[in-house]
Amino acid sequence: MQIDAKTKKRPASNKAEAGVGASLNGFLADTYVLLAKTQACHWNATGPNFFGLHKLTEAQYGELFANIDELAERVRALDVLAPGGLSAMLDLATLEEAPGGAISTAEAARMLAEDNASLAARASDLADEAGDADDLATHDMLVKRIEVHEKAAWLLRSHLG
Ligand SMILES: [Fe+2]
Repeated sequence: MQIDAKTKKRPASNKAEAGVGASLNGFLADTYVLLAKTQACHWNATGPNFFGLHKLTEAQYGELFANIDELAERVRALDVLAPGGLSAMLDLATLEEAPGGAISTAEAARMLAEDNASLAARASDLADEAGDADDLATHDMLVKRIEVHEKAAWLLRSHLG
């Protein structure tokens, strides 16, 4: 793509923006799956340090819920439709759903720490993609998600001793 000599910026590309919107939908879907997994662990995990993990997951699913709306509204601002339901979210997500049934607090912390680390890495990749498309708003949004998910992964890992 040619760079404008005066502004030093590449011209806006609708195709690139649509690509960023579609990628952001994938990240939104993974965030939705992580919300459901975090809530399932909040309810079903049992074992040592139950109350610590119960409170931590409560704070984390609240943050994820609020952010999902921010991500979806950014997708709409890019003129792409957000996923329309749970099956659409699962189709787009790369994260696996939580296993059903009982789960130990240690296994829950390990699983959620891995998922948060995975989302931090995905946010980093997508931030690069948005930057390449000169989409600074999406880039900035995703850079903030790197920090949130890396901190969440650390807090969860710290339950493992
Ligand atoms: Fe609760």
